Amino acid sequence: MKVMVVGSGGREQALAWKISRSPKVEKVFCVPGNGGTRPPAENVPIGALEIEKLRDWALAEKIGLVVIGPDDALALGAADVFSSAGIPCFGPKKNAARLESSKSFAKDFMLRHGIPCAKSRVFTDSDEARDYLLQAKYPLVVKADGLALGKGVVIAETPEEALAATGRMMDAKEFGSAGETVVIEEFLRGTECSIHAFIDGSSHLLCPDAKDHKRVGEGDEGPNTGGMGTISPSGAVDETMLARIREEVLDRFVCGLKKDGLDYRGMLFPGLMITENGPVVLEFNCRFGDPETQVLLRRLESDLVEILLATCEGRLSEISPTWSKNAAACIVMASAGYPGSYEKSLPIEGIDLAEASGDTVVFHAGTAWKNGELVTNGGRVLGVTATGETLEDARRKAYAAVNEIHFDGCFCRRDIGGGIL
Ligand SMILES: Nc1ncnc2c1ncn2[C@@H]1O[C@H](COP(=O)(O)OP(=O)(O)O)[C@@H](O)[C@H]1O
Ligand SMILES: [Mg+2]
Repeated sequence: MKVMVVGSGGREQALAWKISRSPKVEKVFCVPGNGGTRPPAENVPIGALEIEKLRDWALAEKIGLVVIGPDDALALGAADVFSSAGIPCFGPKKNAARLESSKSFAKDFMLRHGIPCAKSRVFTDSDEARDYLLQAKYPLVVKADGLALGKGVVIAETPEEALAATGRMMDAKEFGSAGETVVIEEFLRGTECSIHAFIDGSSHLLCPDAKDHKRVGEGDEGPNTGGMGTISPSGAVDETMLARIREEVLDRFVCGLKKDGLDYRGMLFPGLMITENGPVVLEFNCRFGDPETQVLLRRLESDLVEILLATCEGRLSEISPTWSKNAAACIVMASAGYPGSYEKSLPIEGIDLAEASGDTVVFHAGTAWKNGELVTNGGRVLGVTATGETLEDARRKAYAAVNEIHFDGCFCRRDIGGGIL
């Protein structure tokens, strides 16, 4: 079978890497992919949002399975287009992908179906938002309704900060139409963790838990990023908590999909806060996390393609994949200046040495080939991902591999999953 992975980040590289290992697969196409695509995978120069072109190409190439990486492609209805063309597609249809692309839609869904979430109010009028903010309790959280590249959430300690945020979103339209509606919600205390579950429309299959590190600096200092590193397991959830997440989040989610008639065959990745009252959903992501995917797929022992196909065909209840007991750690190496502006086209060295031990895989994110040389091409450049018997073991190996790699101005957080290494 030929498989097409849509997207160009580290997540899609990890998917292509694991899909290539399936005995069912003769060829993987990364569209558009990045500098890390290795045989038997191959890049195809079509943009991830050029959906009609992607469909035509997939039909001509007789692609047997499409996996959509990015949220914006799903929000545009990529899954609808492939399904209408008769191509099996992993990823929810547009109306279900709204669970990620509209935070107010997700809130309504959670309230209707009894899924625990933060108390909130939705505003479409900035004067009404202002009146509310002037008498609300602080801290609170202001969220742009739509997709905002991870920059649409502000934790406000004071009314001034909150008003500045709604001013930027609703009046100055910093995020365009994504900020015309805002969700204002209570600030929750607890430990965050990332849960992933395959959803086939009528059942779910939970993956091991993981933890991202969103802030750019050690000790969770500085601005938010797309994610500076992940570990799995997260250490934040035990069996009792997992059972509650299954029941209070996933069972109710699947039940809600059926009641609302939403067609969802893909990955659900809820951002969760584990509070003293139990799990609370902060948001739904309707696709694999980046860089959570990198650690999860290093721990998956079974054939990913079987799981993807079972998801598309509504057969998840028939399979039970195995996950390694080993821990995994992914350290993101980034360009100087990230998450602000940064230089591109800087030569990258040392990846072969980093992978020499066999326990480490370096997933490319912002990389490209230029005149026969591997160079930087984005803010998050590489996800150095190692496994080990314990988390400490995995972290030690990952950082040893990081130390072999160099490009000008490269940096990483040295505290992913624990103390400074
Ligand atoms: N209600 C909340 N209470 C405390 N922190 C929150 C709350 N909602 C969001 N956050 C913090 O803000 C981050 C981003 O919010 P999230 O809803 O995940 O939006 P997005 O990923 O789209 O930016 C979360 O990872 C969490 O750290
Ligand atoms: Mg989030």
